[in-house]
Amino acid sequence: MPSLSTIILGTGSYAPERVLTNAELSKMVDTSDEWIRTRSGIRERRIAAPGEATSDMGVQAARRALDDAGVTPAEIDLLIVATMTPDLPMPAAACIMQHKLGLPTSAACFDVNAACTGFVYALDTACAMVASGRYRKALVVGAEKLSTIVDWKDRTTCVLFGDGAGAVVIGTTPQPDVGLIGTRLGTLGESVDLLCIPNGGSSVPATPESIAAGSHFMKMKGKEVFKLAVRVMDEAARDILEQHHLRADQISLVIPHQANLRIIEAISQYLELPLERFFVNVDRYGNTSAASIPLALDEARRAGRIQPGDLTLLVAFGAGLTYGSALLRW
Ligand code: ACO
Repeated sequence: MPSLSTIILGTGSYAPERVLTNAELSKMVDTSDEWIRTRSGIRERRIAAPGEATSDMGVQAARRALDDAGVTPAEIDLLIVATMTPDLPMPAAACIMQHKLGLPTSAACFDVNAACTGFVYALDTACAMVASGRYRKALVVGAEKLSTIVDWKDRTTCVLFGDGAGAVVIGTTPQPDVGLIGTRLGTLGESVDLLCIPNGGSSVPATPESIAAGSHFMKMKGKEVFKLAVRVMDEAARDILEQHHLRADQISLVIPHQANLRIIEAISQYLELPLERFFVNVDRYGNTSAASIPLALDEARRAGRIQPGDLTLLVAFGAGLTYGSALLRW
């Protein structure tokens, strides 16, 4: 059987209606628009409506991706949802989405939790499963309702995050050298405590005391995360370029995880690639974790920033500490 390339057939995204501005945040905690903008590049973020779950946002993004691809739900035999904020601790958000989207009961549906790198991990997994020939068409969704795990009294984290979703449909083509060209994933497990939710899991179950202390919310050592993020994103980008004998200037567009504009600027300097080659929407959405890259990818495509033949580099880092890059030719 001739080998097939795994390609993105369509993209979609969704952001909740409610906009939370820096000015509003400065009334909630001791912060200012100036501090948030200069430290992170964020001006506003979206917040899901009460009762709007991760799966609801994922469904909206997935429907748009299916429309864009011209693929029906009945054709999907694999759904992978990248999220660290599933609707319920169990079962997976993917199961809830399978029902809401009306995917066949024969579809394999599961979640991947690699925090902000989740979409890159899920994309690699889905493409490998489709390339094996055992699955034909996959939906890969990144969706997060981070507003539920953020401590709205902690100014060091609450200003950085937002809610949203993005999705892609994966299929195959006999055309060689297109689609997912390669990935480079990695993990620094010794750095778990730099960014985690300390309580509420199996090692330290939640108690009334831990909840009162806010230990079920995200905690982050921002400065250390910043330094590691720049290092591992640069490494993941360089490694994949080297593996494929490419120079940075051959990349038409980099879609980095949207955590902080200063991190993106640092990567742009390290790779000696102008900031104009980086897609940036962190100013409007903040850090939406696993939703960040597919949301940016969809906006970039719809804005005409990705053309046939272009090489796109996705690069991310997240809690874990996980990191990864993916190279796509369109
Ligand atoms: N408003 C005003 N002041 C603040 C705020 C705020 N919102 N937050 C912190 N400060 C104060 C601090 O208390 C500190 O005050 P001090 O000097 O009196 O102690 C001062 O501002 C400087 O704080 P720093 O932490 O040194 O600020 P820094 O320049 O490092 O920026 C930031 C902080 C934006 C968090 C940065 O470190 C960062 O972006 N880190 C990476 C975080 C990240 O990307 N996380 C996402 C990971 S992905 C995932 O998986 C979820």
